[in-house]
Amino acid sequence: MPADLVIVANRLPVDRVPLPDGGWEWKPSPGGLVAALEPVMRANDGTWVGWPGGPVEDADPSELEPFDADGLHLVPVGLTAEEIELFYEGFANGTIWPIYHDLVAKPEFHREWWDSYVRVNEQYAAKAAEVAAEGATVWVHDYQLQLVPQMLRDLRPDLRIGFYLHIPFPPAELFAQLPWRRQILEGLLGADLVGFQLPGGAANFVRLVRQRVGYKTHRDLVYLPDGRTVRAAAFPISIDVAGFEELVHDESVRARAAAIREALGGPRKIFLGIDRLDYTKGIYARLRAYAELVEAGELDVEEAVFVQVAVPSRERVEQYRLLRDEIDRLVGRINGDLGRIGRPAISYLHNSYPRAEMAALYTAADIMVVTPFRDGMNLVAKEYVACRVHDDGALVLSEFAGAAAELRQAWLVNPYDINGMKAALLEAYHADEKDLTRRMKAMRRTIQRHDVAAWADSFLTELAEVAPHTKSPRQARGR
Ligand code: G6P
Repeated sequence: MPADLVIVANRLPVDRVPLPDGGWEWKPSPGGLVAALEPVMRANDGTWVGWPGGPVEDADPSELEPFDADGLHLVPVGLTAEEIELFYEGFANGTIWPIYHDLVAKPEFHREWWDSYVRVNEQYAAKAAEVAAEGATVWVHDYQLQLVPQMLRDLRPDLRIGFYLHIPFPPAELFAQLPWRRQILEGLLGADLVGFQLPGGAANFVRLVRQRVGYKTHRDLVYLPDGRTVRAAAFPISIDVAGFEELVHDESVRARAAAIREALGGPRKIFLGIDRLDYTKGIYARLRAYAELVEAGELDVEEAVFVQVAVPSRERVEQYRLLRDEIDRLVGRINGDLGRIGRPAISYLHNSYPRAEMAALYTAADIMVVTPFRDGMNLVAKEYVACRVHDDGALVLSEFAGAAAELRQAWLVNPYDINGMKAALLEAYHADEKDLTRRMKAMRRTIQRHDVAAWADSFLTELAEVAPHTKSPRQARGR
C-alpha cells in the first residue's frame, strides 16, 4: 500500500546477520540513527526504505520483497558486494565520514567511489518514489544519501521532502576539499527542509550554498531560481526517554544491574564507556587517561574499574581494523601492567547488546565517560541521563559532541587534552552526592522536555510549514 510517510535511510532498523549453521537472523541495526527513528516510525505507521545488511548476492530474492517486522513496514534496497565496497565502505565511510568529522582520519577521494555513490543514491530514490503515496512526506536521512532529495524531486515533484543529517556538517574550509562539493549541495537542495544537529551545521550549509552554488540566501533560507525556497535549520535529535525510564524500573533490568555490579567486584566504582568502535569516539585517549590515573595511584583497581563496551562497526574498512588492533593492544598492556588477579583495570567487551542490557549497564555505572573528538549528537550520553532515575551518577562529556550544547551540567572536557580529561575523571569520581544530584536533575529536565517524539514533531511540523502544498503527515505523538 502506498505510504503517506516514508523514511529513507541507508540501513533498515534490522540487520540480516548470517549464522554459523548457514542460516541467518534479524538483529537490531547499530548506531544512533536507528535508535532514534524506530519509536517515531512505530508511532506513525510509516514505511522504511533501507539496506538489510549484507550483499544481495547472498540473499534469497524473497528477502528483498517488502516485509513487516515487529509492526514496522520495511522495504529493502539490495546492495551488491561491489556497491558495499565502493558506496558504503568507500565514499560514505572513507570520504564523507572523515571529512564531516573534522578530518579525525584522512579521507580518500576516488572517482569510482563517487560513481557508485551516485548510482546507489538513484536506487534509494527510485524505491522511495515507488512506495510513496500521492503528496506523501518523504524523510531522507544521513550522509550516505545526500543526493536522494533532488533525485526524488525529479521523479516525484508532488512529494514533500525533508532531509536530516545525523552527523556534523563541516565548516566550508573542509567541505570545499570534496571534488563533488557542488553536486552534494545541489542534491541536498532537493529537500524542502534540511535539518542539522546544531545551528553551526545549518549556517555552514547556507554559507556554502551561497559561495559554491551562487543561490541567494537570507538567514536560514535559500531561494532557488525555480521559485522554491529551502530552509536549513537545527533540530537536535533525542531519545525515547520514557522508554528507557520504563526499562530501568523493570525488575529484571534492576536485577541485572545488581548482578553486573557484583560481578565487577561489589563496591568498586564503575566508569563506563559505550561506543561504536570508531576513531571519532576517542576511546584510545580516554583509556590512556584512565590508565595514567591508576598508574599514578590516584585510582586503585580495588576501588574502581573502567568498563568499555566497543560495538563492532564497519569491520572491513582498513581504518576501523587498525583501530581495533590498537585498542586490543592498549587494553592488554594496561591490564597486564596495572591489573591484579580478578581485578582488571579495564573490563573490555567487543560486542553489541540489546537495549535492556544497555539500560542495566547505565544503571550500574557511577561515571559515564563520553569523549568523542567530534560527534553529531551522541545518544549514549542522553541514554545514560535518561536511565539515572534517582538523579545520581556523573557524566563526563566531550565539548565536541553535539550533546554538550544541551547537557551543560556534565563535566565537559576537551578530548585532545589528556590532563584535562584526567582532572575531570577524578572530579567526577570524588564529587559529593549533592553536586551529582544538582547536575543530574538539571540534565534530566532537559532531556525530558525534549525527547525523540518532540524532535520528530518539530521537524515534521516545520517541514509542513515550508512545503504547505502537500498533505501533512500524522506525527509522532499521533496528532
Ligand atoms: C551513525 C550514523 C548512521 C549509521 C550508524 C551505524 O549513527 O549516523 O547513519 O547507520 O552510525 O553505522 P553503520 O555504518 O553500521 O550503518
